[in-house]
Amino acid sequence: MWKNLHQIRAFRSGSNDRFSFVTTPIFYVNAAPHIGHLYSAIIADAIHRFNVLTSPAASHLEPPIFSTGTDEHGTKIQLAAQAHAVPVATYCGQISDQYRKLFRNFGVDYTRFIRTTDPDHVSAVQCFWQALERSGSVYSANYAGWYCVPDETFLTDSQLKENDSGVKVSVESGHPVEWTEETNYMFKLNRHQDDVLYWIKHCEDRIVPLKFRKICLDFLQEPLPDISISRPKSRVSWGVEVPSDSTQSVYVWLDALVNYLTVTGFPHIEHQRCWPPTVQVLGKDILKFHGIYWPAFLIAARLEPPKQLLVHSHWTVDNQKMSKSKLNVVDPNERAALYTHEGMRYFLLREGVAHSDGNYSDTKIIRILNAELADTLGNLLSRCCGKALNPEAVVPSFDQETFQELKSLDTTKRLLDLLQALPEKCHLHYREYNFYLVVDSVIQLLHAANGFFEGTTPWTLKKSEDKPRLRTILNITMEVLRQAGIILQPIVPVMSGQLLDKLSVPRKRRLWSDLRVNFAITERSLMGSEAILFRRIVAPKEENVVKKEPKMKKIKQKN
Ligand code: ME8
Ligand code: MG
Repeated sequence: MWKNLHQIRAFRSGSNDRFSFVTTPIFYVNAAPHIGHLYSAIIADAIHRFNVLTSPAASHLEPPIFSTGTDEHGTKIQLAAQAHAVPVATYCGQISDQYRKLFRNFGVDYTRFIRTTDPDHVSAVQCFWQALERSGSVYSANYAGWYCVPDETFLTDSQLKENDSGVKVSVESGHPVEWTEETNYMFKLNRHQDDVLYWIKHCEDRIVPLKFRKICLDFLQEPLPDISISRPKSRVSWGVEVPSDSTQSVYVWLDALVNYLTVTGFPHIEHQRCWPPTVQVLGKDILKFHGIYWPAFLIAARLEPPKQLLVHSHWTVDNQKMSKSKLNVVDPNERAALYTHEGMRYFLLREGVAHSDGNYSDTKIIRILNAELADTLGNLLSRCCGKALNPEAVVPSFDQETFQELKSLDTTKRLLDLLQALPEKCHLHYREYNFYLVVDSVIQLLHAANGFFEGTTPWTLKKSEDKPRLRTILNITMEVLRQAGIILQPIVPVMSGQLLDKLSVPRKRRLWSDLRVNFAITERSLMGSEAILFRRIVAPKEENVVKKEPKMKKIKQKN
């Protein structure tokens, strides 16, 4: 066991290292993006933002890396461009731009957007190929088998079935296959099977959630066949040329996986400073490529495999996977026009759970955004900052004596207990990638704060002499809002920014380490005039919702 790894650094677990390098899959440019792609990117973005929020600003550390981008080579893309009668490079550029624009609009704060057509990537793929060759893991063979273009993969007999119309399809994706006979370069996958097994088993949270770790371990139960890693150029002209053989193109999946190396500067020596990735986010549809092939390639090339894979499930429509090759995709831009970009981020991270599929529903989005962002969070902020209770527009000073009195109330006790426990609780949820639990905890706190506010009836104090009590109630509520604002930054960065701006929290004081409960002693002015964080969405009439839901963008089938 571990035949090839004795020279590679010992594997480390992803959780305690201070450097961070997060990736998303790179997306095929065969069609426009949908909310599934956005979902992966937002998960990775939230992890990256959390890492930035919690990392000490120490100059000796490498700055965090967060990469995403587009996968542009291969038959699937070649055919998509042909179907649109557009030169393939132009076609790739157009769709790649749609991804870039989508991510910019949704605040996906990547440090590199990589395209597999970028020159530094092409040379990284060729260097990586040479490293595989040097390791003795590559040989040439005549290959005959079933190829699935939509999935860009060869399939074995046990991975095939006949569908209702008698067409041979992939068991996993249902996509059709075609018979192919050609000369290919093969990779000795079998040789690295034990190493991959060791890599997974060496660290309990290597592949999370655990159900996906188990699926990978099941793949490894049987001896793995070697895999084809090139295609004849006569069939696949749109690809990276094999360095030593100009008649062959590098298999698109090998090409695509190397993107994670390219973004670190591979093959230049500096790349070692940021290798390997700390967590790679991906959908369950591409688990085998990332959980088996990718570590095997890296181990063969004497590079350390990633520290962790975070695998998520799928967004479905009517319980069918939302997919570019089906006609059932939900367009994120269209949805953002109705619910805002921040609203969509909130919904996806609040409703999505990694281990099981989530069904997309407009009714659910409207209900959640109105109840939580408008009524629970937004309303509390407006009440604290509005003219009625706070005509001087300040974060009022805190009165110790009144505070002691308020503390005897059950609602206050409950609120303070939740407030005290919140940072640690949310830190754990973020580290376990349970964004919905982060939101749950914050919303629970905000409900308690609304209860406290109602219970202490500050509006009755406006005209009374008991100004210290009014000031203290506002002060406590605003501290709750400050905490909520800091913690929600990775999830809704723009909205949290507005909230913290309103409360005039200095930009440099919005880090995780600023979460110590801190009731303002001295009064400070609020900023700006408006304190509306999220406007309620007016639901379309009942019959329209039913008719429209989910409204799907028709995209021509390309595969
Ligand atoms: O597979 N729900 O690209 P791709 C949730 N280029 N996430 C979804 C989704 C859904 N319904 N549909 C897609 C490729 N995704 C390769 C990857 S990486 C080296 C190469 C997300 O355009 C999810 O992350 O088919 C899935 O794994 C990815 O998009 C597939 O995107
Ligand atoms: Mg796909």
